[in-house]
Amino acid sequence: MSTPKTIRWGILATGGIAKTFTKDLLVDPQTRGVTNVKHTVVAAASSSSQSRAQDFLKDTGCPADAKAYGSYEELVKDPNIDIIYIATPHSHHYQNAMLCLEAGKNVLCEKAFTVNAAQAKALAEKAKEKDLFLMEAVWTRYFPLSIYVRDLITSGRIGPVVRVTADNGFATDPEEAFGDGKHRLVNPDLAGGALLDLGIYSLTWVFQTLYHTQPEKTRQPPKVLAAVKNYSQTKAADETTTIMLVFPRSPEDGGDAHAVATTSIRVTTTPGGTHDAPSIRISGPKGEIQVFPPAFRPTRTKLILNDGTVEEKHWPHPGPGKGSGWYNGFGNGKNAEGEGHGMFWEADEAATALLEGRKEGKYEGLAESILIMEVMDEVRKQGGLVYPEKIETTKYPTEL
Ligand SMILES: NC(=O)c1ccc[n+]([C@@H]2O[C@H](COP(=O)([O-])OP(=O)(O)OC[C@H]3O[C@@H](n4cnc5c(N)ncnc54)[C@H](OP(=O)(O)O)[C@@H]3O)[C@@H](O)[C@H]2O)c1
Repeated sequence: MSTPKTIRWGILATGGIAKTFTKDLLVDPQTRGVTNVKHTVVAAASSSSQSRAQDFLKDTGCPADAKAYGSYEELVKDPNIDIIYIATPHSHHYQNAMLCLEAGKNVLCEKAFTVNAAQAKALAEKAKEKDLFLMEAVWTRYFPLSIYVRDLITSGRIGPVVRVTADNGFATDPEEAFGDGKHRLVNPDLAGGALLDLGIYSLTWVFQTLYHTQPEKTRQPPKVLAAVKNYSQTKAADETTTIMLVFPRSPEDGGDAHAVATTSIRVTTTPGGTHDAPSIRISGPKGEIQVFPPAFRPTRTKLILNDGTVEEKHWPHPGPGKGSGWYNGFGNGKNAEGEGHGMFWEADEAATALLEGRKEGKYEGLAESILIMEVMDEVRKQGGLVYPEKIETTKYPTEL
């Protein structure tokens, strides 16, 4: 067995998901059977102060010699970084990713990739021009659970998929929780709303089951019909969005396939956190695959065939294990002791791509990220959801 290659990460932003990602990144990859790569963090940057970056490095358990920067501009100049993980609000992804690419850095950028498809295209072009790796951090695509579901589909166990329904939502009272309108979930200046933040997962499930599983040469973009309800307090940032999609397919492959992707910040698939109903249902003529909530981090699937076969599977997230005293989680949610959050699989893929000289993610290339942004553009157009010009622009640099 060859020695694992260590990939040196820089972390751009110090908020909630940056913490979760970084903690996962530092878990020994062997705990999940990965032996080709290892990860280390060599630097982190905060846009507000160097001390915030310093605290971040300490809180996440980064190596003592990791550098703390008080600006993103300093971070991208660090010659010891192989790849930068961007974890700012999606309003800022375009400007931040362009900063990294211009400086010659490979990039893993949080979802939603950008505010619109024009920005996503401009980033893809810049990465190509600079011969750099660029990937949208849709972590769910890289879970073993997702690989299993896609394999089930392509193996034909349920026949050609006829319909997919996918839901992702939070049961919050936005007036109560985000009353001042500043939180990134409802703030138009931060590209807030259900669609870009949560609906991206409903669309991820629709695309990874109905689009990604089709042959690359013949698959076609879907037709889209959408209903958008904007959040009344901020007059933009959708609170509930429903999307109907039709994926063209040849008659031999089953003909057109339908999907309904739903998302909301006011209602959820299973109120009370019971997780007792599937958030994703993938239906074919021979049966159905069910994926249980939350859609972004599922751990349970059920295959139900018309002949009565039921195969239920649990997909634990490995980590240092019980007795390790190590915890991860997101926001107020804490995982069980020693249980990883599941963000390391996308990091492993990004690192492996660097090793192999690939410039895009294996389970969602840039063309697919751009196509999903195009679908979200169309949804926003149909629903009259417009963000401020400064975050929609492709002009770089733009002060935000
Ligand atoms: N994959 C997932 O499961 C997941 C989960 C949650 C969020 N996300 C995505 O990750 C991104 C960040 O989400 P988050 O929940 O981590 O947000 P957050 O807690 O608000 O953190 C965002 C960070 O971005 C930096 N930032 C720079 N300019 C900012 C501005 N004008 N306003 C606010 N923050 C600014 C701040 O760090 P410094 O200034 O210190 O650098 C801030 O702490 C979003 O795109 C979101 O969709 C992904």
